[in-house]
Amino acid sequence: MSDLVVAANRGPYSLEEADNGELTVGPAGGGLAPSLASALRARGEKAVWVASAMSPLERRAAERGGVETGDSELGLRLVPLPEETYRAAYDVVSNATLWFLFHGLFDSARRPLFDRRWWEAWEQFRRYNAAFSTEVAEAANEKAVVLVNDYHLPLLGGMLARARPDLRTVHFTHTPFAEPVELALLPREVSRQLMEGMSGFGACGFHTARWEGAFCRSSMATLGKVATTFSCGLGADVARLHEVAASPECDEALTALDEVVGERAVIVRSDRVELSKNLLRGFHAFSALLEERPGLRGRVCFVARAYASRESLSDYLAYRAEAEHLVEVLNERWTPLCGGDPPILFQVDDDFPSTVAAFRRYDVLLVNPVRDGMNLVAKEGPALNERHGVLVLSEQAGAYEEMSEAAIGIHPFDVAGTAAGLATALEMGAEERRRRSSALSELAVACPPAEWLESLLERARPAGSS
Ligand code: G6P
Repeated sequence: MSDLVVAANRGPYSLEEADNGELTVGPAGGGLAPSLASALRARGEKAVWVASAMSPLERRAAERGGVETGDSELGLRLVPLPEETYRAAYDVVSNATLWFLFHGLFDSARRPLFDRRWWEAWEQFRRYNAAFSTEVAEAANEKAVVLVNDYHLPLLGGMLARARPDLRTVHFTHTPFAEPVELALLPREVSRQLMEGMSGFGACGFHTARWEGAFCRSSMATLGKVATTFSCGLGADVARLHEVAASPECDEALTALDEVVGERAVIVRSDRVELSKNLLRGFHAFSALLEERPGLRGRVCFVARAYASRESLSDYLAYRAEAEHLVEVLNERWTPLCGGDPPILFQVDDDFPSTVAAFRRYDVLLVNPVRDGMNLVAKEGPALNERHGVLVLSEQAGAYEEMSEAAIGIHPFDVAGTAAGLATALEMGAEERRRRSSALSELAVACPPAEWLESLLERARPAGSS
């Protein structure tokens, strides 16, 4: 039992099974979880993280009664769910429906499509939220604070308000939120349950005023009322980044990168292989840059780092294949015109020290999502860069609201405009690069995870007590 409970689909630990069947618990890889976990530990008050049992190994551990993390500051409770419930809630509703909706990814001539299979998945999604509600209610002391994260768990607000009205709850959405016209893509009953569930939280938070506003408008349009809301943008976790930057692995990766890129100027990107990240238009824009500026051929390269994501969804597998194919085609075209070295280095791996090395080394950082809640790469890059690099940033990223004055803004669908933005960045004078990069590195570290976490926890309230 604890006075502070965090709920999120993905937990801050990764589990492994040794040959003798013993479970070992280590820190999870990337994303928000490690930063949030270290901010929670730093508070010096025991917290419990409630997460899905995502893999067969985690499911077995959850069924056997849980996992001992060996961490006195941060415990873990894995929600045991049948695999079909988990897959339907995570793949079909959370990722293929709500993620697409919030990032404006639907191609509405074809999707969304609410058939019988989808409605069954929605029932499973309700069960998934109910299982979290049970687990949180068991983990939370009287009047405990509960911080719930993201679109996987919107129904938890209403469920907890009924089961445990004493709890002080706050929900934080790390993605964008849908405007009423977008929310109307969901069947009315679904959007009603979604917004009802969210309005059961004591407060609902967003990274920016834009997503907060979209939530309020959608809530008014659906329910005729709005929960207490706030916005609070998360900054880069500099302490963790600097630790990685100072590691021998990162130095080795930087030396290796220097060898590959040689004297060429370096454009970097780093993303999950994810439809909202707009990788394809990024490659097209780089090709357009080489087309428009023959003088840059052989003098610039594009280091596109990406790590695989959600490969249980065919959309993601197809997107990765399309990106790999496009890079092959573009490299075939441009390599002979660029002095024989492939100008695009597309690296799909999960190697954070190499990503940090690329952040230290870039001359230009391209962050061009179709839409993004915040986008921490736009902050992590400038926080680490050692070359007065320029940030070319999508106007649709939450981070743009904070960084527009020092970044070069681009429209994510405008490939020609993105190519022009890259050219401007590459040709920028030293003085302006210095001015912009020092502004960026300051903006990037405002509101680091510990401070951000405190402002969220301060907003926690019992449901309906605005
Ligand atoms: C991104 C989003 C988060 C989300 C996470 C889920 O990092 O910014 O809002 O929770 O993806 O990713 P997953 O790999 O767990 O599906």
